[in-house]
Amino acid sequence: MKAVVLRATGGPEALQLADVPVPQVGDGHSLVRVRAAGVNFADVLVRQGRYPEQPELPTVLGSEVAGEVDGRRVVGLPRHGGGGYAEYVAVPDEWLLPLPDSASFAEGAAFPLTFLTAWIPLTRQARVRPGTTVLVLAAAGGVGSAAVQVARALGARVVAAAGAEDKLDLPRELGAEEAYTYDGLADVRADVVVDPVGGEHFAGVLRLVRPLGVVLALGSAAGPWPGLDPALLVGRNVGVQGFYLGRLMRLDPGVVRAAFEELLPLWERGALRPVVGTELPLARAGEAHALIEQRRHRGKVVLVP
Ligand SMILES: NC(=O)c1ccc[n+]([C@@H]2O[C@H](COP(=O)([O-])OP(=O)(O)OC[C@H]3O[C@@H](n4cnc5c(N)ncnc54)[C@H](OP(=O)(O)O)[C@@H]3O)[C@@H](O)[C@H]2O)c1
Repeated sequence: MKAVVLRATGGPEALQLADVPVPQVGDGHSLVRVRAAGVNFADVLVRQGRYPEQPELPTVLGSEVAGEVDGRRVVGLPRHGGGGYAEYVAVPDEWLLPLPDSASFAEGAAFPLTFLTAWIPLTRQARVRPGTTVLVLAAAGGVGSAAVQVARALGARVVAAAGAEDKLDLPRELGAEEAYTYDGLADVRADVVVDPVGGEHFAGVLRLVRPLGVVLALGSAAGPWPGLDPALLVGRNVGVQGFYLGRLMRLDPGVVRAAFEELLPLWERGALRPVVGTELPLARAGEAHALIEQRRHRGKVVLVP
């Protein structure tokens, strides 16, 4: 079968299409015929050699797919390093989830990781309610575009932020009432901040949280988080909650599956819809990574075998 193989960390050109054996399927796993594979920022970090849990090389990246098993349309979350950028991937049966009839395969590959990463913190850690103001950073990206929709679906008022003016239309279309570039946030105040960006932005948004509010720290695309003194949180009556889906899938899979069950009806009736900004064939996986690395994409980038 064809697969995108990463033999050594490096630039986007390190991703090479190759012929490899179809994966062996162990007990409790199914072989998925991949119709679309989601590309995530974490994949970019692995390719660059910057991910905290680097897989052994060579490897095939890709930790979410949509495809078919015995004619059944599924969403699949391959574990342990991925394997999704391929024609076939072995997926643990517990992470084979239904793909709604209304969704395309590309949408299926764009849905699970971003929407779970938005839904679980916004329902379990921040407890968003009608009237809550939620500020979403990187709001035109994968997690961000999901978080705007989830916050709206929960009745929140959404303020979006992104790195460039021309990224603000998408979150506005998804229901954000206000949208700013990062340098325009000084007067914004929010109860909840969804932060997939980290770095210096994290320190900046702490100042925008209202008393009794919370920053949801989801990622550090812009670089490592600065040190955090609890005295600052105490003094401002604010909290920080961290969220890492991969570890939750290992330690408390029932919560993740329950969250997916909650998301399904919203997805089926169109209240939530993943934004597929770009579809590329497997052979162009390097371009897919370059788009994300250079912050030129919108929504999700999806590979189609
Ligand atoms: N905690 C979890 O379980 C979990 C799960 C999935 C993803 N994540 C994290 O959430 C973040 C978003 O993931 P994603 O796959 O949806 O990616 P994404 O948001 O589609 O892409 C990353 C975005 O980060 C922003 N960014 C800011 N500074 C950047 C920089 N120096 N380099 C690159 N991007 C920068 C860019 O948006 P602007 O140009 O608008 O700033 C870019 O579009 C990542 O940090 C990822 O690791 C965490």
